Amino acid sequence: MIMTNIADDCGPAGTSSRKLVFSGLIFGVFCIFHALVLRESVSRFESDARDLVYEQAMAYITANVPSEVAKWYTYFPKETAHINELDQDEDELIQHVRERLLVPPNNNNLVYYLDRPNVTDPSEGLAQTVSGLLGNMTKGFFIEAGALDGEVMSSTLLLERYNEWTGILIEPDPLNFLDLLGKNRRSWLAPVCLSFLQKPIMVSFEQKLSLGRIQGAPGARRPGLVDVQCVPLFSILAALNRTNVDFLSLDVEGSELDVLRTIPFGQIDITVVSVEFNKIVEGRQALKDFMKRKGYKTLEGSEKTSWGKQNYIFVKEK
Ligand SMILES: *[C@@H]1O[C@H](CO)[C@@H](O)[C@H](O)[C@H]1NC(C)=O
Ligand SMILES: *[C@@H]1O[C@H](CO)[C@@H](O)[C@H](O)[C@H]1NC(C)=O
Ligand SMILES: *[C@@H]1O[C@H](CO)[C@@H](O)[C@H](O)[C@H]1NC(C)=O
Repeated sequence: MIMTNIADDCGPAGTSSRKLVFSGLIFGVFCIFHALVLRESVSRFESDARDLVYEQAMAYITANVPSEVAKWYTYFPKETAHINELDQDEDELIQHVRERLLVPPNNNNLVYYLDRPNVTDPSEGLAQTVSGLLGNMTKGFFIEAGALDGEVMSSTLLLERYNEWTGILIEPDPLNFLDLLGKNRRSWLAPVCLSFLQKPIMVSFEQKLSLGRIQGAPGARRPGLVDVQCVPLFSILAALNRTNVDFLSLDVEGSELDVLRTIPFGQIDITVVSVEFNKIVEGRQALKDFMKRKGYKTLEGSEKTSWGKQNYIFVKEK
């Protein structure tokens, strides 16, 4: 990264050196000298330089995030490095999630700001099916990961709106998260991605409406990419003091099975799970096999039903 910066510094002057060979030669020598000095200082103060580069990346990323939500996406490199060493059940991590990464429900004004208020179930039947599986229970608790704006294709809005459920809406994309805040949902919000490890991890996340996904290591500087903190699902539930969940909706553009593998199913009791399966690299059968080993049966025909996305519904066997 340092070497790229040097090449950039020397670029425009390199063009003018075609006209003025002499000054170009001098400048070339300067560039080499500059590079050698810099390389030496990098090796001498390597960790400081790495921190500096990281700080610059953070500043860039913050500029890519709407100011209304920037406070949740502004990370501090040393703290992040420390947090990302912690296991999902460590108190320090759970406290960090509780204090910094969760937005409490807004229960002051129970009015939704929906774009299509007349649509009772934006999930096109998925939420109704889940509700039926649970005897149309009221006051359940859900987790929706990949919540988008909390309305489009929402698999939990119906439950919250008509059956007095509450829960947590998890959405990593800052643009989607801003829209989600504006809907005035009655649930907790978390501007994070779900970790595919039993530890937190920073990733570069591609902002792309409903198709946003983890792209790779943090620090990428392309427009549309933002660094986002991923947190294990278990740590989020622990931060909310919860061990039981009535409905988990997982639509995280390909990392579904990895996220499921992080869950200690012996400690967390989840009754119904819906999982988008069409982007899972290992394939849908691997997902079904995994859920079967964890004690879930696949709802017959759930994958054939069109809910705007391809989902399996799993129900915990008693
Ligand atoms: C939405 O519902 C309200 C009340 O039922 C009705 O007056 C209105 O015309 C509906 N709007 C649309 C776009 O269907
Ligand atoms: C749940 O509600 C639906 C209609 O909203 C109804 O058709 C169904 O029978 C109900 N299920 C139970 C178990 O009460
Ligand atoms: C969870 O428990 C902690 C510690 O007792 C408490 O401070 C916090 O408010 C609780 N959070 C919720 C959402 O109940």
